[in-house]
Amino acid sequence: MKLKFLGHAGFEVTAEGKTLLFDPFLQGNPLAPVKPETVNADYILVSHGHDDHLGDAVSIARRNKALIIATAELAGKCAREGAQTHAMHIGGVHEFEFGTVRITPALHGSGIPGGQACGFIVNFYGKTLYHPGDTGLFSDMALLGRLAALDVALLPIGDNYTMGIDDAVEAVKMLNPRLAVPMHYNTWPVIAADPSRFKARVEAETATRVTILEPGQETDV
Ligand code: NI
Ligand code: MN
Repeated sequence: MKLKFLGHAGFEVTAEGKTLLFDPFLQGNPLAPVKPETVNADYILVSHGHDDHLGDAVSIARRNKALIIATAELAGKCAREGAQTHAMHIGGVHEFEFGTVRITPALHGSGIPGGQACGFIVNFYGKTLYHPGDTGLFSDMALLGRLAALDVALLPIGDNYTMGIDDAVEAVKMLNPRLAVPMHYNTWPVIAADPSRFKARVEAETATRVTILEPGQETDV
């Protein structure tokens, strides 16, 4: 499986000729390595309705006939804007062609009236990823770490709106992933963070390895 960082909280995951995107915020993202008009997708997972996560999901979904997977209220908004959607909610697991999606809680605003922010544990052709969306640290991450043997955890480190580095290190200790990749930092000055400090602490204090991806860079998982 290839994991490519699209900047901010955006990732492109590819395996078996299929592509899954998380939170494709490209237009308006100063660090985005690609334009929304050139991105391919079969599935798009959107954690919440803030612009820096919902981003270009609807236009990419419409152009590619991709399926947006999100919580019910956000899926409803995307469907009204012409995207194909699959609505889920927190605690639910559903089986797709590629594997499973579990919707996880997130401590954050939804960006849409009546909605809730979420995260995702995705099994994509045999590899398991955790994308927590925007969230503060919460102790149920220990439960999530017990429910799934995580190959990768994508973790916000930018602070202010989400966990910062020290809380993300605590998250790693609860989730126990094989690999952690920092996200949601340095897009703007208010979320400036040094990912090498996150990597140094995680690798000193846990068995998890950290891969720092520049926007546009990818790694094999
Ligand atoms: Ni947000
Ligand atoms: Mn955000």
